[in-house]
Formats: sequence, C-alpha cells, structure tokens
Amino acid sequence: MRILLFTGKGGVGKTTTSAATALRLADRGLKTLLISTDGAHSLSDALACRLSGEPIEVVAGLDAVQIDTQRRFELAWGDVQRYLLELLAQGGLDPITAEELTVLPGIEEILALLAVRDFAASERWDALVVDCAATAETLRLLALPEALGWYLHRVFPVHRTLARGMRPLAAMLGRGAAIPPDAAFDAIVRLSDELAAVRTVLADPSITSVRLVLTPEAVVTAEARRTFTALALYGYRVDEVVANRVFPSEAAAGTGSDWQRAWVAAQAEQLAAIEDCFAGVPVRRASYRPGEPVGPHELRAVAADLYDELPGVDPIAAGATDPLLTVVAAPRRSPEQPEEYLLTLSLPLAVKGDVEASRSGDDLVVTVAGHRRVLTLPSVLRRCTVGSGSVEEGRLMLRFVPDPEHWRSP
Ligand SMILES: Nc1ncnc2c1ncn2[C@@H]1O[C@H](COP(=O)(O)OP(=O)(O)OP(=O)(O)O)[C@@H](O)[C@H]1O
Ligand SMILES: [Mg+2]
Repeated sequence: MRILLFTGKGGVGKTTTSAATALRLADRGLKTLLISTDGAHSLSDALACRLSGEPIEVVAGLDAVQIDTQRRFELAWGDVQRYLLELLAQGGLDPITAEELTVLPGIEEILALLAVRDFAASERWDALVVDCAATAETLRLLALPEALGWYLHRVFPVHRTLARGMRPLAAMLGRGAAIPPDAAFDAIVRLSDELAAVRTVLADPSITSVRLVLTPEAVVTAEARRTFTALALYGYRVDEVVANRVFPSEAAAGTGSDWQRAWVAAQAEQLAAIEDCFAGVPVRRASYRPGEPVGPHELRAVAADLYDELPGVDPIAAGATDPLLTVVAAPRRSPEQPEEYLLTLSLPLAVKGDVEASRSGDDLVVTVAGHRRVLTLPSVLRRCTVGSGSVEEGRLMLRFVPDPEHWRSP
C-alpha cells in the first residue's frame, strides 16, 4: 500500500496532477482511491463527476471521495463540543457564538488526516492519492499529529487528574458542568491515539511520500524550496517534484511572438534551477495544455506527459527510504572519553543561518525559517548535554555528550 500526498502553492495544479496520477495508477491495474481534503469541490470539477463523503467509482479501478469533515467532526468531537457548549451557555454566551468557539482550530484538517488513515487501514486499495490543500495549510496539517499528540500526552493527563479530584467539590457547589465529563476526556484520548497512528503511517517513507507540485516561476519555486525543507523538518519525504504548465518547446521555436519566446526562456531558466536545487529528487514535467484538463480523457493526457507511455515509469515507485533522523554513536575523541552521540536531521536546502536548535527538558526544539518541530529525544540522549552543532549540506548535526550527573553507575 502506498500513499501519495500532492501539495504545492495555490493554483499550481495539485488537483489536476493528483487526479492524472490516480488515473494512471488505476489504468495500470492498481486499485486506487483519490481523496480530496479540499472543501471547494474542485476534484469533482476536474473529474467532471459528482463526489460525496463515501468513495464512488469514477472509472474502472479508480474510486474518489470528498472527505465529509462535518460528519466526521460530529463523530470525533461531538462529546467534547457538547460539554463546551453547556459550559459556555452557563457563562451566558449566546448559542451561535458558543458554537463557533467550540470548534477546535485545525480540527477539520485533523479529521481529513484521520479519514486518510482509515482508508489506508481498510486495505481496500493498493494506492491512495491525496489532493491536499495549498502548502501553508498542508504543512500545518502535517505538523499537527505530532504537535497535538505532544500536547495531549504532556498537558492533558494533568488536566484530567485535576478534574477528577475537583468533581465532588464542584458537585457540592452546584457547578458540575465546569468539570469536563469523562466522555469529553475519552474523546480527547481517542483523538490522541488516532493521531499517533496517523503519524506512524504518514511518516513511514515506505508507505507515504509527498509530491511537490510547482509551476516554473521564480516565486513559486522559492516557496517550493521552503516547503521542501519544512516537510523534511516534520519528518515527511518528498520523492518527486512535479513541474506543471510547462510551455511546449515548439513555442520556443521561431514561430512564437516575442511575448511567447520571453515566457519560454524564463521557464527554461527556472526549470534548470529546479533540476539543480532539488538535486536527487526526480522532476517530472507536464506541459501547458491548450485547454483546462477536465475529465478522465484530458487527465490521461496529462498523465501521459508526466509518466510517459506504458510501460514507462512507475508513478508509484518509492524513492529513497533512508531515515530523515538518525542517532548514532560518534567516534570517541580518545579512549578515556565517554561515548558521544551524533544526531543528524535531514533539512535539505537549509543553510546555517536558517536553523536554530535548542534543548527544552527532554525535547529538542528545531526551528527552520519560521517552522518549528518539538522532537522528543530518545532516552539515550536525554541523559546527555548538547555539545557542538553544525548545518552542512542540508543536514543539522548535533553532538550529544553524556552528562556525568546522569551516567553515574547505579
Ligand atoms: N497542465 C495544465 N495545462 C492547462 N491547464 C492546467 C494544467 N494544470 C492545471 N490547469 C488548470 O489550472 C487551474 C488550476 O489547476 P488545479 O485546480 O489543478 O490547481 P490546484 O493547485 O489544485 O489549485 P488550488 O490551490 O486552488 O487547489 C485549473 O483550471 C486547471 O484546469
Ligand atoms: Mg486543488
């Protein structure tokens, strides 16, 4: 089973290229599900068919679904919401404002991820192709399972213990609703466990990879570069870059106008830069079609562009699966010195000034150009202090030195 997540800047062609890829997979005999997490129904428009919250067959071998976050919201968050609504009503808030306040920010995205994981777990499909939202939302989405899981694990048990202790007192004072009922806590625990499962599936490079879609324009490429780094920071692997809406090379030949030739030359320059800067990651190209690629026939033409004719490339082949984060024992500086450890985090395209790393308790906080990840350190590193660090060739390397305080023999 493989999961392909398509993301990129707004309007670059994520829906089009993800649908084209899914069609190609289905045509090759893989049972494929194309999933849209976008509430704007543009996948329905691209496929020229009506989609719903349940997978329906679009063509032989290809099902598609538009995730119904509203229904999933009720299932996952209904108990918590009912409690919060009661609480806010007690505080005298009008029901409409209260309802707005009880929607956890990002919950729709979380539910979309949970749905992807449920589809994966059902084992009904060989491949899931996910048409994600534009990069900023997708990054927020992909960072959520770990960040929220961290919060729910660390902070939440404290709330729960406190709440249990206070319930009899609150009952005496007639303020029962101020203490969350167990159903609300259970819903949160369930969510936390499910998020951990989502993370396991999505961060496994043998299952999931990200396809970064762009158009050959300087502004789009600059954003794609930052996304590439941020995805690695959060532990997701980009295994292909898709350059969409590439002007056909005939347009460069003498027949075009000056305007056309200038655009073709500008794109050629960007394409060369893209091949260069995403070194090691294959770049696929889809040409600018003479019309909007809508419907299976047109989308198959985009797929033919991207993946060549059969038996050309395998659109699903997984790229390298070496881990993005490794911890190894570092060579001793001298036989008397204790063993040190080297943590390496792959951050492609990042340079020294972009990266900050600091220790906070048992966690390592890594920030890259506005994106932050809180990594829980493996136990062997928790008993160490952070020594020297460097950023080289797109990798953050931190040396950890055993802290004599923690390593005294028991
Ligand atoms: N190769 C192409 N040739 C011609 N038109 C294209 C091509 N790829 C996409 N388009 C058109 O460009 C528009 C945007 O494409 P699409 O909806 O796939 O982008 P998107 O990245 O999914 O956008 P959004 O960020 O809004 O979800 C659509 O009208 C689509 O038909
Ligand atoms: Mg789209």
